[in-house]
Amino acid sequence: MKRNQIICGDSKQVLSHFPNNSIDLVITDPPYLCKYKDRNGRTLMNDDNADGVLPVYKEIFRTLKPNSYCITFYGWTAIAEFSEAWANAGFRTVGHIVWPKKYASKEGFMKYQHESAFVLAKGYPHKPEYPISDVQKWHYTGNRSHPTEKAVSVIEPLIKCFSKPGDLILDPFSGSGTTAVAAALNDRDYIGIELEHKYCDVAERRLASVNFYENAIYA
Ligand SMILES: C[S@@+](CC[C@H](N)C(=O)[O-])C[C@H]1O[C@@H](n2cnc3c(N)ncnc32)[C@H](O)[C@@H]1O
Repeated sequence: MKRNQIICGDSKQVLSHFPNNSIDLVITDPPYLCKYKDRNGRTLMNDDNADGVLPVYKEIFRTLKPNSYCITFYGWTAIAEFSEAWANAGFRTVGHIVWPKKYASKEGFMKYQHESAFVLAKGYPHKPEYPISDVQKWHYTGNRSHPTEKAVSVIEPLIKCFSKPGDLILDPFSGSGTTAVAAALNDRDYIGIELEHKYCDVAERRLASVNFYENAIYA
């Protein structure tokens, strides 16, 4: 299993070729199963298809090392389905993180103004040496590279808290490669998996510039 690569394909299929107990940490941002469409009409693959998303958690559990973490964003409208998939895969929930936003992504019954993720455990991992708050600072990216692009600065505190240099971090719903970029910038190894070729290309480009700047700094 080659480290530091973006694999273009379906996570469930791709991960089925990965060995058991090989990943140190998963940080991922799956489709929220809410039929997302942004102001420009951009949609996400599998956002209307739970069968393309939820079975991946079983593979995540299998490929994670014993006593490790999976941090997963989720969409609250599909919390019942996500919770069932996580529990069926074997995960325990050990934390919940909220990112309040200064702006509302949508208005309806409420102004929808936060993002959230669960911290799931496979087995009984060590608690982090320096735990972070479960209320975290949000940064808006402008979604230029991807319709739901997370900021590297949102992912970095998770990486620093839940992994150590040299660890292998997997993101099976990699999009524009934000988790991989955050991993590379923090001396972790990464594997990103993404269905859409255009986002695999974006991720490769982002990672190439990380490598370019790092080589320039250490040259
Ligand atoms: C919410 S987005 C991730 C965005 C990412 N966090 C970023 O910063 O760019 C989820 C991504 O998962 C991809 N996806 C959906 N189903 C997938 C599957 N079965 N395997 C791999 N990728 C999948 C979608 O194409 C989409 O780009």
